[in-house]
Amino acid sequence: MSTASPSQLIVNPGKSLSGSVGLPGDKSISHRAALFAALASGESLVENFLVSGVTQAMLGALNDLGVEWNLEGTTLTVTGRSLRGSNAPAGPLDCGNSGTTLRILAGALASAGIPATLTGSPGLRRRPMKRIVLPLQEMGVPIQASESGTAPLVLSSRPIGQSLKSLVYTLPVASAQVKTCLLLAALAADGPTTLHEPGPSRDHTERLLNAMGVPVVHRPIPSTDQAYETILTPPSPLDLTSLHMTIPGDISAAAFLIVAALTTPGSQVTFPGVGLNPTRTGLLDALKQMGADLQIRDPRQLHGEPVGDLTVRYSHLQATQVSGGLVVRMIDEFPAFAIAAAHAQGQTVVREAEELRHKESDRISAMCSGLSALGVPTQELQDGFIISGGVIPGGASVGPHGDHRLAMALGVAGLASDKPVTVTDANIITESFPDFIPTLNSLGADTIVG
Ligand code: S3P
Repeated sequence: MSTASPSQLIVNPGKSLSGSVGLPGDKSISHRAALFAALASGESLVENFLVSGVTQAMLGALNDLGVEWNLEGTTLTVTGRSLRGSNAPAGPLDCGNSGTTLRILAGALASAGIPATLTGSPGLRRRPMKRIVLPLQEMGVPIQASESGTAPLVLSSRPIGQSLKSLVYTLPVASAQVKTCLLLAALAADGPTTLHEPGPSRDHTERLLNAMGVPVVHRPIPSTDQAYETILTPPSPLDLTSLHMTIPGDISAAAFLIVAALTTPGSQVTFPGVGLNPTRTGLLDALKQMGADLQIRDPRQLHGEPVGDLTVRYSHLQATQVSGGLVVRMIDEFPAFAIAAAHAQGQTVVREAEELRHKESDRISAMCSGLSALGVPTQELQDGFIISGGVIPGGASVGPHGDHRLAMALGVAGLASDKPVTVTDANIITESFPDFIPTLNSLGADTIVG
């Protein structure tokens, strides 16, 4: 849902934030719910579906594959067509800015043996795809990337009845998108597939597939430092149960407002029903290391996912260090975290996070240049960054590099800076959190959109 007309967001400092925030549905689970429902048999009902640019890309691709779905408000119904029941699309599938759509759809189409071309925005066509293409080829999937290892990806058809080869594979980098792509392809394999990962990437696919009747094991590998293994055994017959579920509030969307409340004097904000899957709560752990006042009430399960009510109060933060498995558990949260670090006393150091260079923007370089423009001393490292925190002078105009999370983080920087912060091209926010600015305003923030 990125629009052609650029918009500008000005955030004026000085107002405290208070209230309770209804969060949009989790982006990762929304993508999976829509796609997996299409692969199931029968009607699925998904409540609190995230309606945003990136999930529209998934729904648009499902349309092109002949899948029937209906969206009313945030309630999505999907008529499943089982794995092989979709049509070959008439043209290339446009995945927009959505890496998740492209990578997990590639796995589903590989499994179904449906020929298709997967492409997307110029930004998406710059992102690395060899990480899925090479292991898929090892499984016998007829798939090719461009010469530079990027989209468009071209998948040829596979004869009905021909299985893929089961795989034992170690992912060079922990990645739930790659893991999900390979697990979906593994549904059509001739035996169990085993994936090893160097860190605890999000496990929503494993939880959902288990609920749909597919045996998947996801566990730490004993005597390693944070490595995980996932084993999927293709069920016979291959018949996925339809979904009836409510999607938890997105902790990655909440991240910006959590940091906003923590860093804006006098603030107190509650997030009811936020997703608290331990593979996603790294930001909360990093913020607690910094002295953040975070309280979780009524922890509970929502259709196989942990959720709870989180209350955040303004806190004096101290600098911290982040590396290893914690990086994986907060991989989308570094733009928000960097704003907390810019307020914290001392030098915050992030290492072993080179993967941040391969997100919607090069987030190491883009965050450091954005914060520097706002007067915060930063140092870029190949695999991370150092932020010398204390105050954010502000008083500048900064761009989000086509990255929705950068735009929201830089906006949050203006809430407690010395002078206002202007974010250009802020429309990109609609990719993942269309109500971000109204939500911020409902908590008491002083913003101007132009
Ligand atoms: C996602 C996984 C992460 C994350 C992305 C969503 C997912 O990417 O950055 O926003 O839904 O599986 P990687 O798996 O590449 O780390």
